Order: sequence, then C-alpha cells, then structure tokens
Amino acid sequence: MNRLRSVGETHFFRHPAQFDHMAKVLGGDRSPVRIWSAGCANGAEIYSAVLLLAQRRPLERGRFTFTGSDFNADAIEGARQGRFSSWHMRGCSERLREQYFRQVDEGVWQLDRDVVEQVHFFCHDLLEGSEIEPQDVIFCRNVLIYMDPASMARVVDRLFHWLAPEGILYLGYSEAVLAGEHPGLQLIDSSLAAYRRKSFELTTLPVPVLLPPVPLEPLRLNPLRPRLAGRPEALAFLEEAAHFVNNDQPRQASRSLKKSLYLDPSLAVSHYQLGLLELGEQRVEQARRHWRNVITLARRQAPTDTVPGWDGCTWDQLLQWTSKQLKRLGETDV
Ligand SMILES: C[S@@+](CC[C@H](N)C(=O)[O-])C[C@H]1O[C@@H](n2cnc3c(N)ncnc32)[C@H](O)[C@@H]1O
Repeated sequence: MNRLRSVGETHFFRHPAQFDHMAKVLGGDRSPVRIWSAGCANGAEIYSAVLLLAQRRPLERGRFTFTGSDFNADAIEGARQGRFSSWHMRGCSERLREQYFRQVDEGVWQLDRDVVEQVHFFCHDLLEGSEIEPQDVIFCRNVLIYMDPASMARVVDRLFHWLAPEGILYLGYSEAVLAGEHPGLQLIDSSLAAYRRKSFELTTLPVPVLLPPVPLEPLRLNPLRPRLAGRPEALAFLEEAAHFVNNDQPRQASRSLKKSLYLDPSLAVSHYQLGLLELGEQRVEQARRHWRNVITLARRQAPTDTVPGWDGCTWDQLLQWTSKQLKRLGETDV
C-alpha cells in the first residue's frame, strides 16, 4: 500500500468543540470509559482530553483509561515525556498552564507527572497494527489525510471495529466525508466531524463494506518546491493556503486558493482543494465545478507526470480520485 509522507503537527485543544462535545457525552457516571488518541503525535490531543475531564471533576481511579498511539516511535517517546513548546500549547488557557504545567526552559513546558502517568502510550500502526480493545471514544484526527484511498478505507473500517457499541469517533474536520458512507457509522453532527458506532450486529451490515475513495489533502502533504511547475506567485498563495488548512482556518484557505487560481487558473491542486473545502461547507455545485476543472486539466497532461504543487501525485492518480469524487456527487459521465 502506498504510504504518503505524514507530519506530526498538533496542539492542545485542537478543534475545541469536539472536546466540549466529548465532555458533555461523558458527563454521566459511566464507568469505565476508554479514550484513545490514534495517531497521537506528541500526545497533545490525549492530554487535552485528560485535562478537560480532570478539570470538570477529579479523575476517579479506574474510571477512565487514556491511550495514545502512533506509528512513529520518536513521537511516542516525546509523548511519554510530556514536554511541550509554547507553539503546541497555544490552545491552552492561562489557567490550565498555571494549574498543570511548569516552565522548564524558554518556551518549553513540562506537564505534571500526575497527568502524564494517566496515559498509556504505545507504538501502533493503524493499517497493520494489532487489535485494540473496544474504545468508547476514539480521536483519529488529521491522520487519514496522509493515506492513499484504499488505506483510508481500511483504517476507517478498523476504527469502526475498535469502537464499543455507541462509541464515538472524532475525525479531523477535513476528513469528515471519509466515514460518512461506512454503514456502521452514523454522523452525529457534521460540524463536529463526529460519528457514533451504530448498535447493530455486524452480520446485519451490507457486505462488502466498500468505502469511497476519499480526498487526500494535497496542501498538507506537499511543501512547495521551486522546481515545481506553475507560476511562482500562484504557488506562494498555495503555500499560504496550506498554512491556513494546517491551522484549521478553511475560509482563509479558500481565499488563498482563489487568489492562486486568479494568478494561474491551471493550478489543478487548488481546484481540487477548493472542491473539498466547498463540499465541507455543503456547497455541492461549487465543489462539482472545481472538480470538473481538475478533470479537464488532468486530461491534457501526460498521465505519469507529477501534478504541480502535489509532490508524488501523478495526473493519472488525480484524475481517478477526482472522477470518483464526482461520481459520489452523482455525476455519471466522468
Ligand atoms: C498531523 S498528526 C495529527 C496529530 C493529532 N491527531 C492531531 O490531530 O492533532 C498525524 C499523526 O498521525 C501519525 N500517523 C500517520 N499514519 C499513521 C498510521 N498508519 N498509524 C499510526 N499513526 C499514523 C503520524 O505519525 C502523525 O504523528
């Protein structure tokens, strides 16, 4: 299976509405509750869950189990240390900083041992790793976007199996479309990218479980290189858009992408990305328009050439993925 390069960008309380939602859902006295951050990078995500719940009421021994996993051993090593830069802490309130962290160096913060010890970290590959016991909450955010379509489908299906009945899966905002067509997952709220495992027996699922190929998010994957084709000014806006996407600012990202297209209307990667962003805002017609542009552009290129702005992606791949996106939106002639 094709592996695309992945980055460990993360910070505390990324997508805060999802954490608020989790705290509300777990508000009762349910016990035990298992919470797992799959693809946890340096652990900021799972520690955010610990801090939020600990703030609401002292964590009773045995009520929660917190787990963090990543296939990157260095990330896990870092997560176990619980040491963070101010950049990773940018989502943390002053109060939390004071209550749970100690500054150990210029711009470096150490999380209290008590909190660090709440979390069990281990190396685990979501594609090939061993089975996991059923989890009540799984965060798997900003991980799938680095995978090829077949791998994404496999991981979504594995996540489904690792959820306890009625368990909740939080994906990254730009990944929300991925799980939508899994028959065992029910969308709770599209603005939260949150899914609940439906409570019916697996045997009642329609088989085979086929997930649609899903969008990769090229802007995250591909720092722009000067050697790429495309007008440099347009590529600079693409880079700006990548920054906004990485910081969960889709509207600003949209604006930058539009600027890049104004300067270079042939930048297929911008059209593709805008299609995703438009779909995320439920603007299906606009998404369609951008993806049709991608198809037109891709058909003019040599299939094995690399798409400018998207390292490692050929025109042929882009054509296939975009056609599948359009088919999902009901287009038959692609
Ligand atoms: C961008 S970070 C996301 C961190 C955190 N989930 C968040 O949203 O803030 C992506 C993480 O996913 C991990 N990852 C990518 N593919 C993986 C796989 N197949 N199995 C486990 N971890 C993976 C990477 O090592 C990286 O640390």
